[in-house]
Amino acid sequence: MKATAVAPSNIAFVKYWGKINDELTLPANSSISMNLAQLHTTTTVDFSDDYAEDLVEIQFFNEPLERVQGSKKQRVVDQLNRLRKLANTHMRARVRSINNFPAESGIASSASAFAALTTAASAALQLKVNTRELSILTRLGGSGSATRSIENGYVEWKKSDKSSKSYAVQLAPHNHWDLTDVILIVSTQSKKTSSLEGHGAAASSPFYQARLAELPARLKIIRKAILDKNITTLGIELEKEAISLHVAAMTSVPAILYWESSTISAIKDLYSLRESGIEAYFTMDAGPNVHVICETKNAHLVSDHFKKKAYVQSLFISRAGEGAKIIPNHLF
Ligand code: DP6
Repeated sequence: MKATAVAPSNIAFVKYWGKINDELTLPANSSISMNLAQLHTTTTVDFSDDYAEDLVEIQFFNEPLERVQGSKKQRVVDQLNRLRKLANTHMRARVRSINNFPAESGIASSASAFAALTTAASAALQLKVNTRELSILTRLGGSGSATRSIENGYVEWKKSDKSSKSYAVQLAPHNHWDLTDVILIVSTQSKKTSSLEGHGAAASSPFYQARLAELPARLKIIRKAILDKNITTLGIELEKEAISLHVAAMTSVPAILYWESSTISAIKDLYSLRESGIEAYFTMDAGPNVHVICETKNAHLVSDHFKKKAYVQSLFISRAGEGAKIIPNHLF
């Protein structure tokens, strides 16, 4: 009872920030993202009566396979337990997960990791689930953003107060619009405040309700910009959204300041690039690194512009990609 799945990381165009139900990971707002084809996790899950306990191993680019313990392992075991319950089995599993990006890159691995884990484990247990159900099961694993990595391309994760109605839907397939994310890694220090704490603190910001109130209109604009392939409209809204999320984070209790001075430098340098006529726009998730979104025809100009900046520690480039999928006959 073994299966392998590959799942992409994703970058949020409209951010998930705050929950209405912690246990079920039900978000306070709907969110929209683009899957990142070049940044992914490949996970093999092997259930067998031969294993006395669950074994979880993770490998990052250029690093040895490492056995995971403690709370990191527990999150994986909790997700396996959820799926084992559905399959009515107690079989333990060996989980091996490989990321094609470095651990200290500042790229969050939980979205790709939980999407790949849930996809592989469900297939290994032969659970009969469709994409919608798979996105719900992934969501229950606790990494909300992973819910969106299940569907292809440009994806919306719907909010609802009912678990069965909060899932991922595709807005457009990855090849509908050739967008690229040029990711500027400006700091690789692990964040002091996790997204988990951030979601918990979100509602304490006096700006949070204002943020929630502006989101239905923003979601509409971004959905349409994707369908119309309108980079200007998407970009302007993307930047407003990133600022809105970070204002809410900076003004919550405790206050969460994800930005570094290099984050501001990158934004200012992006403004000058734009003045030269290149359409490229920034967004940041729960961290200091800057994602520059542009049409793929401009990706090289964008990366050349930033490559030489002293504050850029490394740079990753990814186009829009497919969602999680099973790799048949994968030997690992
Ligand atoms: C700001 O709870 O999904 O990136 O800690 O990576 O599991 P992990 O994050 P999650 O929160 C993501 C918050 C966000 C916005 C987003 O991706 O929608």
